[in-house]
Amino acid sequence: MNTHRKVHVKTFGCQMNVYDSERMVDLLAPLGYSQTETLEDADVVILNTCHIREKAAEKVYSDLGRVRQVKRHRSANGEETIVAVAGCVAQAEGAEILRREASVDVVVGPQSYHKLADAIGRVRATGQPVVDTEFPGDAKFAAMGKRVGPRTATAFLTVQEGCDKFCAFCVVPYTRGAEYSRTVVEVEAEARRLAEAGVREITLLGQNVNAYHGDGPDGRPWSLARLVSRLACIEGLERLRYTTSHPRDMTDDLIAAHGDEAKLMPFLHLPIQSGSDRTLAAMNRKHTREDYLSLVKRIRSARPDIALSTDIIVGFPGETEQDFEDTLDLLEHLHFAQTYSFKYSPRPGTPAAAMAQLPDAVKIQRLQRVHDVVARQQLAFNQGYVGRRLRVLFDRPGRRPGQLAGRSPYLQAVHVQGDNSLIGCSLEVEIQGAGPNSLSGTIVGRAP
Ligand code: 5AD
Ligand code: SF4
Repeated sequence: MNTHRKVHVKTFGCQMNVYDSERMVDLLAPLGYSQTETLEDADVVILNTCHIREKAAEKVYSDLGRVRQVKRHRSANGEETIVAVAGCVAQAEGAEILRREASVDVVVGPQSYHKLADAIGRVRATGQPVVDTEFPGDAKFAAMGKRVGPRTATAFLTVQEGCDKFCAFCVVPYTRGAEYSRTVVEVEAEARRLAEAGVREITLLGQNVNAYHGDGPDGRPWSLARLVSRLACIEGLERLRYTTSHPRDMTDDLIAAHGDEAKLMPFLHLPIQSGSDRTLAAMNRKHTREDYLSLVKRIRSARPDIALSTDIIVGFPGETEQDFEDTLDLLEHLHFAQTYSFKYSPRPGTPAAAMAQLPDAVKIQRLQRVHDVVARQQLAFNQGYVGRRLRVLFDRPGRRPGQLAGRSPYLQAVHVQGDNSLIGCSLEVEIQGAGPNSLSGTIVGRAP
């Protein structure tokens, strides 16, 4: 067997895909594969795809066009290339991908990528494509073995997958399947390995992470708050975060944890999607604007300095100018640290795709109006830290030479002048400059 094969992975979409891509690389490592950033060098190319909006899904096909050319070129030189499409487009489209793009050899859904090595072997042996989009329940995590990577200061750790909420716009319940939580023992073991490998900050991931209900060591389901307090005992681990949450699953114990648990960072991503009760009902969100406002009040009284971020969809079917203005009004009222906003994109098979659609021009104009509010708010939030000191965990080199980048407790990107040897350290930084997306400052000393 050739023991020096290379794998190239391109990741689209959310942080759960980033985690999954890393695990796919881990799975192939014992078979002699090392990772390459260069598509042309790769014996195996994996596109780990996202189906959340139409643009993301279409991007996969344009990338596959380029992969096809590289595969042809390598084949002319006698080199084999196996092309795998993984993730949510794979799940949603299955064998259809093979019809649209003949250079694809393997299609694996997010619940079956633990069988990737096997699928690659079958393609090599038979020359026939393999499609695997089954939902084998809890088999995936058990079959994946120990985590190898990463060797970084921050890491993602998937603790929960899937969603039973069925918001009318969203494909996730169809592509990722029903809600499933990993056991506390499994999560803790993975977190300990990460901490031993030098990871200082872990972000717990799930499509509905605060609905976490994994079996505890006592055989009973544990909440996310209990899981967080257990992980907070791990030595060497300085920070914990979790994302992404549904307002209906913000339980009292989780809110309290934001006040009590020092390692739980003061940042919460809590999508609201719309500020209009009419639109929220049409979206099947099962909460009102008032529910959200009173929830935020409770969270802020547990942790007054908490930074909140949210997701907004504009141009959902039936959204009137008044509904949209309700959303702008909510944004003005709540002062989010970050807001991610999207034009509604009809997704095949979801209820909202069958409703009467708004013209694209209306969506574009509304998105721009949201962007204007958000840019102003994000800048104001960041400017509030100028002249203050923040503890920054440095996790990567900055863009310019001699620059170092990290994150504040509030998830702001912070840039300083500093040596790469400081990566992995938490240091006090005096903040001197602020933009809508980052801060800059000077290291003033080691954190206590
Ligand atoms: N169109 C636009 N945005 C969407 N999102 C999910 N589905 C759609 C869609 N069909 C957004 C939501 C969600 C985020 C991850 O993506 O705001 O919170
Ligand atoms: Fe999609 Fe709604 Fe589930 Fe979030 S809660 S993953 S938006 S269906």
